[in-house]
Amino acid sequence: MKERTLTILKPDCVKDNLIGKVIDLLLAEGFKVCAMKMIKLTPETAGGFYEVHKGKPFYDSLVEFMTENRVVPMVLEKENAVAELRRVIGATDPAEAEEGTVRKLYAESKGRNIIHASDSPENASIEISYFFSQAELISNY
Ligand code: CMP
Repeated sequence: MKERTLTILKPDCVKDNLIGKVIDLLLAEGFKVCAMKMIKLTPETAGGFYEVHKGKPFYDSLVEFMTENRVVPMVLEKENAVAELRRVIGATDPAEAEEGTVRKLYAESKGRNIIHASDSPENASIEISYFFSQAELISNY
């Protein structure tokens, strides 16, 4: 069954002009783009999105990083999209990511790692609603 997941092309991806290359790779892997926007997160919106990591040692630097440039949240659709996207982007730490994955190709470190992907179908649904209204999520495919 087709599933939806949320990805965010992070500030390093935008700053280094990599959004086209990363989107191309996602399309080549069979994902359909259902919704997409370019926005600048505030400390409040970035902090709210990563609320689950609040209190962790990397939380403040994560929020700071996510607000340093614009980001591109996207809703992607594919069979088994949540697991598939996590496979395609690779491990959080690019040093541990498989060859050919987005993070292996383009990420600099665990903190500056180019792309976010939802970690479960339940969180995908919560994260999609964080960035997109129902009107922006009309089914195209
Ligand atoms: P992301 O998939 O967006 O979800 C949470 C983010 O926290 C993760 O990518 C990393 O960018 C960041 N993160 C997780 N662990 C660490 C860490 N140990 N040091 C710095 N950043 C981290």
